[in-house]
Amino acid sequence: MYRSMLFVPGDNEKKIAKSEQVRPDAVILDLEDAVAPANKAAARKLVASYLKATRGNRRAALFVRINPLSTPEALDDLAAVMAEAPDGIVQPKAASPLEVQRLAHYLDALEAQHGLPRGATRIVPVATEVPEALFALGGYSQVGERLAGITWGAEDLAAAIGAISNKGDDGYWSEPYALARSLCLFAASAAKVAAIDTLYADFRDGPGLAAASRRARRDGFGGKIAIHPAQVEVINEAFTPSDDEVAHANRVIELFRANPGVGTLGLDGQMLDMPHLVQAQKIVALSARA
Ligand code: COA
Ligand code: MG
Repeated sequence: MYRSMLFVPGDNEKKIAKSEQVRPDAVILDLEDAVAPANKAAARKLVASYLKATRGNRRAALFVRINPLSTPEALDDLAAVMAEAPDGIVQPKAASPLEVQRLAHYLDALEAQHGLPRGATRIVPVATEVPEALFALGGYSQVGERLAGITWGAEDLAAAIGAISNKGDDGYWSEPYALARSLCLFAASAAKVAAIDTLYADFRDGPGLAAASRRARRDGFGGKIAIHPAQVEVINEAFTPSDDEVAHANRVIELFRANPGVGTLGLDGQMLDMPHLVQAQKIVALSARA
């Protein structure tokens, strides 16, 4: 489970080194939009050499964001990095679960070529960046074990639609983009993987990021994308259950254990039934992993 996934431009050696000074659960080495076309080849080399240098000794999971599968760059990206065993691939502008399965098949072949265990390379699709993708979000369980989570994006979607902005006057996502966010949440939940919230662009606004992260966790996201080292700790904290939460969850679990065969109970004047027990177990599992 990735609380924080920190994007780093794949052509920037300094930023790649800097990512080691913070503690993201995953780093995403970007070969797509953060890298200008003229720098793609150099970025592939740099990313591959960083993957090689850290192999067997990675402090965070290392993902590579390749170019969209609809472009010829995607295969060049995979050919350049797969020998060095990235922990996962972020697939931007994913059009459908079928397209993600196509990536999974490429990975089957590349893992065999490079002597990697089959299935070792996980996938996190960005599942809302093209309009047609919104109509195919129900099928992500078909991707199988490689699927490590699903994230969403509002920038490319707004550009594709021709929107003037994706935010309302209150600064929050306007309706079409709030819908994409919710659908990402349900798509991930239906596929039994974590939903990972999109980035918070204003990287100097710590309180705003903290509020957005709390809101995301409240709604059911398991983590959030970071684009700046200063965002990592804020996100990690927001997605780690507090001591109070864990203590309360343990009381709920204990109460059900002490009352076997009882479906509903009262605690501190609140009704508890099965969904509360499931929630409590999730919180305890989450805090054990953090
Ligand atoms: N990863 C690692 N290091 C980063 C970083 C990142 N994502 N973003 C900034 N840094 C480093 C900077 O190099 C700088 O290092 P220094 O103090 O050694 O000079 C330090 O952190 C402070 O950076 P700051 O000056 O606050 O930001 P900036 O103006 O240099 O960069 C961005 C702003 C947005 C360009 C930068 O944060 C960035 O590249 N983010 C990732 C972009 C990306 O990958 N986008 C694709 C997905 S949407
Ligand atoms: Mg993009």
